[in-house]
Amino acid sequence: MYAHLQNKARTTPPVSLTTLRNMKEKGEKIASLTAYDASFGILMDEAGVDVVLIGDSLGMVIQGRETTVPVTMDDILYHCKAVSRGLYRGLLMADMPFMSYTNKHQARDNAARLMQEGGAKMVKLEGGSRQMKIVDFLAHSDIPICAHIGLTPQSVHKIGGFRVQGRGSEAADRLINDAKSLEEAGADVILMECIPAELGAVITSEVSVPVIGIGAGPGTDGQILVLYDILDITTGRKPRFSHNFMQGQESITDALRAYVAAVKNGDYPAEQHCFV
Ligand code: KIV
Repeated sequence: MYAHLQNKARTTPPVSLTTLRNMKEKGEKIASLTAYDASFGILMDEAGVDVVLIGDSLGMVIQGRETTVPVTMDDILYHCKAVSRGLYRGLLMADMPFMSYTNKHQARDNAARLMQEGGAKMVKLEGGSRQMKIVDFLAHSDIPICAHIGLTPQSVHKIGGFRVQGRGSEAADRLINDAKSLEEAGADVILMECIPAELGAVITSEVSVPVIGIGAGPGTDGQILVLYDILDITTGRKPRFSHNFMQGQESITDALRAYVAAVKNGDYPAEQHCFV
């Protein structure tokens, strides 16, 4: 844990929304990962991860559940507090769990808890243009927001499975409209999951806010993956977009550095990680 104290003394400024906007403008890729504890918060900083997400994927990779649906505010808060104690440079983003933003006041109160108690600098919520009113209300309460579109795992039971979204011109137009409406409502970052690579690039060029993709192709402003997937801890069938960055590396820190480098230099995602 001493490394953390050293981090605090560093002169490198923490990543902010301004940093992310500048990165988009300059074409510098944003490297993002999930994390769930303080030790990994420290390692994320050492590896140069720009955005660290307390993902509700913790329901699956930490709690052993089948979906993210059972994850609660208390679960996210617990892990958010832990990561925030280790993280200094990376921008800490926290997922708003299923049913924690069913109306604007509930959304604001829960987002405020993630920021005030959990140390999050941004919250992420799922859903397309139907979330515009909530995004608008949060934006007017000075809460930085990442809007997650495309495959939204909290809707898995409604969608009927984890499948690629935005295929076909109607579905693609709907997603483009979702991204634009959410930007207009005040979203600061768009996160897109499991969509065709070509559509990922189109949406990224159509909005001015930074766009981070997971299974959305190389044309986005940045990439995010689930930590346990890249460290090859996750067992069973892996999503097409995931990649084992432990391969050929001697330590976890080296694997994290390899991921950051591959995102920054454009080696990840490669064609085999993309959907058409
Ligand atoms: O919960 C999660 O881990 C996510 C992903 C985008 C990685 O939302």
